[in-house]
Amino acid sequence: VPSQLIDRFGRQVTYLRVSVTDRCDFRCQYCMAEDMTFLPRAQILTLEEIHFICRAFSEMGVDKIRITGGEPLVRKGILDLLQQLGRIETLNELVMTTNASKLAQMADAIQAAGVKRVNISLDTLDHDKFKAITRTGNLERVRQGIEAARKAGFARIKINSVILKNRNHDEVNELVQFAVDHNIDISFIEEMPLGVIDSHNRGEMYYSSDLIKEDLATRFRLLPLIDNTGGPSVYYQVQGSNTRVGFISPHSANFCGNCNRVRLTAEGRLLLCLGNEHSVDLKKVVRSHPGDMTKLKKTIVDAMQIKPEKHEFNIHEQPVIMRHMNMTGG
Ligand code: GTP
Ligand code: 5AD
Ligand code: SF4
Repeated sequence: VPSQLIDRFGRQVTYLRVSVTDRCDFRCQYCMAEDMTFLPRAQILTLEEIHFICRAFSEMGVDKIRITGGEPLVRKGILDLLQQLGRIETLNELVMTTNASKLAQMADAIQAAGVKRVNISLDTLDHDKFKAITRTGNLERVRQGIEAARKAGFARIKINSVILKNRNHDEVNELVQFAVDHNIDISFIEEMPLGVIDSHNRGEMYYSSDLIKEDLATRFRLLPLIDNTGGPSVYYQVQGSNTRVGFISPHSANFCGNCNRVRLTAEGRLLLCLGNEHSVDLKKVVRSHPGDMTKLKKTIVDAMQIKPEKHEFNIHEQPVIMRHMNMTGG
């Protein structure tokens, strides 16, 4: 299906990221405030509504859907949704981003539902640091989750690591070694300033992708890959391994020019850019015109006109986006 979703800058949208819940069993420091209040059930999309909206997108040229959260696997009924999405024939890629806390139990079922790849958030391999960063997470369970995912036979598994100075910047080599040993990929992410989070000075903690590359050069040889996924990540191959290392550098290398994605928040807002608030309320449309696919599609096509050119993140200023990351899943 050729994409009918083209914005004012000529960019074709072929990728939808869907946050199925704002809830999470972790409280990662850079993602949430410690005392988050979550949305009441009535305010978040039902699984049927999510499926309906995903169908609309897939019929208009979106061929990649990523399920995120919060933590997607804490949403009740998530497997039913994945099975339904897995049956959409025009989707090349149904993928998921998870903290892996529930993968030990769920990896097989997720794979069987048709999820092709999983990205797993993991910032450290140190027990105490993991506790400090996630507040409520358990590293051992995450490691079991990664093992389960490997056995389940996904096409690829990728670790996502947000690197922060004086928190985990000294671990980048160990993280890549972990990826190599487990035959999986890894992406390093520069933190994005979303939502005000106390006692977390983002300017001071900024650690650039270039610094990470310098650190890695002491132990690995990274070969540039031209075959990028079209996303924000710039990938390298670790010489002598199957592992690819990606760098997502919103601050040091803007990637908005070839943006191909939009996001659906847990409460049903279609968010045109992670780093802006331009959005359209799709929940209102599906609730006031139930089952009206034509109306929904028209709303989505029109929404492309307000997709911003780029994000305005500035790590050294107070965040201008008050929405926390758990609303949109990155
Ligand atoms: P692949 O499908 O494996 O290429 O993954 P992906 O990079 O699309 O998805 P993933 O969930 O692993 O994204 C990793 C991180 O990249 C996200 O959590 C965000 O932090 C960042 N990211 C992804 N897309 C965008 C984007 O459009 N803008 C910005 N600023 N950051 C993004
Ligand atoms: N900046 C960058 N990445 C973030 N993530 C969560 N919060 C932020 C942030 N403020 C990452 C998580 C996860 C992905 C979905 O988003 O680590 O891997
Ligand atoms: Fe696209 Fe906005 Fe992300 Fe840039 S910041 S890549 S425009 S979603």
